[in-house]
Amino acid sequence: MKYYVASDHAGFAVKGQVVEFLRAKGFEVEDLGPQSADRVDYPDFAAKVAKAVAEDGNSRGVLICGTGIGMSIAANKVDGIRAAHCHDFYTAQMARAHNDANILCFGERVSGPGVIDSMLEAFVSTPFEGGRHAGRVEKIMALEK
Ligand code: RB5
Repeated sequence: MKYYVASDHAGFAVKGQVVEFLRAKGFEVEDLGPQSADRVDYPDFAAKVAKAVAEDGNSRGVLICGTGIGMSIAANKVDGIRAAHCHDFYTAQMARAHNDANILCFGERVSGPGVIDSMLEAFVSTPFEGGRHAGRVEKIMALEK
């Protein structure tokens, strides 16, 4: 499993924490930028991660902006993406268990370092439950057609 990670300037300060966490868990990680805290537009970086995840079936993504909102809206425009805007362990856990989310989005201006680690832990360790949730996820994906 490979993780693609990106932020905008408002998520840049914690992007390193995310990359470090995922590498420590043994995942291959590709940092798709930015490489400085200069002002950038979040849709550009959401598109990089969303397209990479959509093309690589054995991958997931993490996107960070100020709130997590813009990144999730933008990433969900790409076919094949289920980007979940999460706030805590529970929402990140349910994003995987019930929604089979393939991108975790959150806001650096909203979530502190401890909460960020707990969201990442939930996201990387929770399998999709399938069962009654599978048909619902299929219905989500059918909206792309
Ligand atoms: C940047 O100021 C901010 O708008 C962005 O990081 C994000 O929160 C948008 O949803």
